[in-house]
Amino acid sequence: MAQKQENAKPWGGRFSRSTDDFVETFTQSVSFDQRLYPYDIMGSIAHVRMLARVGVLTEAEAGEIRQGLVAIESDIEAGRFTWEPALEDVHMNIETALVERIGEVGKKLHTGRSRNDQVATDLRLYLRDEIRTVLDISTGLMDALLDLAEREADTIMPGFTHLQTAQPVTFGHHLMAWYTMLSRDAARLIDCHSRTNVMPLGAAALAGTSYPIDRAYTAELLGFAGVTQNSLDAVSDRDFAIEFCATAAILMMHLSRFSEELVLWMSQQFGFIDLDDAWCTGSSIMPQKKNPDIPELCRGKTARVYGDLQALLVLMKSQPLAYNRDNQEDKETLFDAVDTVKACLLAYCGLVPGIQVNRHAMLEAARTGYSTATDLADYLVTKGIPFRDAHAVVGQAVQFAIQQDLDLSELKLSDLKGFSDVIEDDVFAVLTPEGSVAARDHTGGTAPARVLQAIHAARQDCQQLKQWLEEKA
Ligand code: ARG
Repeated sequence: MAQKQENAKPWGGRFSRSTDDFVETFTQSVSFDQRLYPYDIMGSIAHVRMLARVGVLTEAEAGEIRQGLVAIESDIEAGRFTWEPALEDVHMNIETALVERIGEVGKKLHTGRSRNDQVATDLRLYLRDEIRTVLDISTGLMDALLDLAEREADTIMPGFTHLQTAQPVTFGHHLMAWYTMLSRDAARLIDCHSRTNVMPLGAAALAGTSYPIDRAYTAELLGFAGVTQNSLDAVSDRDFAIEFCATAAILMMHLSRFSEELVLWMSQQFGFIDLDDAWCTGSSIMPQKKNPDIPELCRGKTARVYGDLQALLVLMKSQPLAYNRDNQEDKETLFDAVDTVKACLLAYCGLVPGIQVNRHAMLEAARTGYSTATDLADYLVTKGIPFRDAHAVVGQAVQFAIQQDLDLSELKLSDLKGFSDVIEDDVFAVLTPEGSVAARDHTGGTAPARVLQAIHAARQDCQQLKQWLEEKA
């Protein structure tokens, strides 16, 4: 029987004084890492099953520990569990509760492991789940975009470069550009999942353990695709968290771009779209206002996720091997990135189906700003004029039209002929926005038929993502 310790912590044996109150508050992480409890318990159960299999624990001991952990999990879920900041973190809270519940045998749980490999394992189990959730919500948004794009496949709007009217495009094509960004995010999430789904358990504190552990068995129980290959790296590596934050930051950057466009399009000056009343808010002073606060918040929350990525990069910068307590700071950061990206994706899932499209305003805008000037140049090329010359000729025609306050299609044939005598009556077909988009009829082009083709291919890609999610469920 051990002597009474001066310091009651699970690690208090070598201490002759109890921990300062300030230090307890400063070092605790249980206020935020308690959300890891399902993974901590899952990891512990797999660990003891492995220990029993290799003969370090008896099956009876492992069974008792397992039952104790399952009971603790129900207590936590039922709100019957008291988290003690004095016990630092989720790991020591659960281990201490286990000993209180099942007695001496509970003290065998921590055989052959350390909180260093434990927390790295918990974090990977947690993130693995969250990556699947983020991807699941993403596919919902991708579906919503595909539905809207299909509906608006031949809706004409101005396309912009430098936010100046450039050439007509279809709204479906524009929405498919958004979709394409999200599909790259999905690929990055899956890639990040593959490096997250590797088990550090067995690295123990940093050097491995002297027990005859069977890491492959524990990994199999936890559904990990493999085990880490270097114990020092295993306890210190947080690349997977950084990769997730980088992926999330890019995804948020995309949402911020969608947001910017929605906000612009909903303005009185554009008037291209309206958002559902249930997804907008009003002003406390201006009675007429209906504001796009949801996209604005998504745009704003992008900043948080960039900050999370930056925080993790700086956290890991120059850290010597192996585990350092600095790494406790990874959690709130990672959790914030996960929570924010999920919330914003959910916001978009709710927002997109309620986008009301003002097709008339979009078409009218596409008719102005000389958006078909390139088509006129291309027309001249078909009549044998080199493109650079055609460009100059059309430039003069546009200048003339601006002076007359007319669109190119409103110029008389005789006026057009003044710029180039190869112009005939058939020119007016290419000067319409409809003719312009229909002519861009190749892979990746804006012609309505190509947009529908792209949507069809995208639906198949989405199906594959969903299949991946099902396989990993
Ligand atoms: N709460 C700690 C963390 O989040 C767990 C690991 C603590 N390890 C240690 N040697 N103090 O990183």
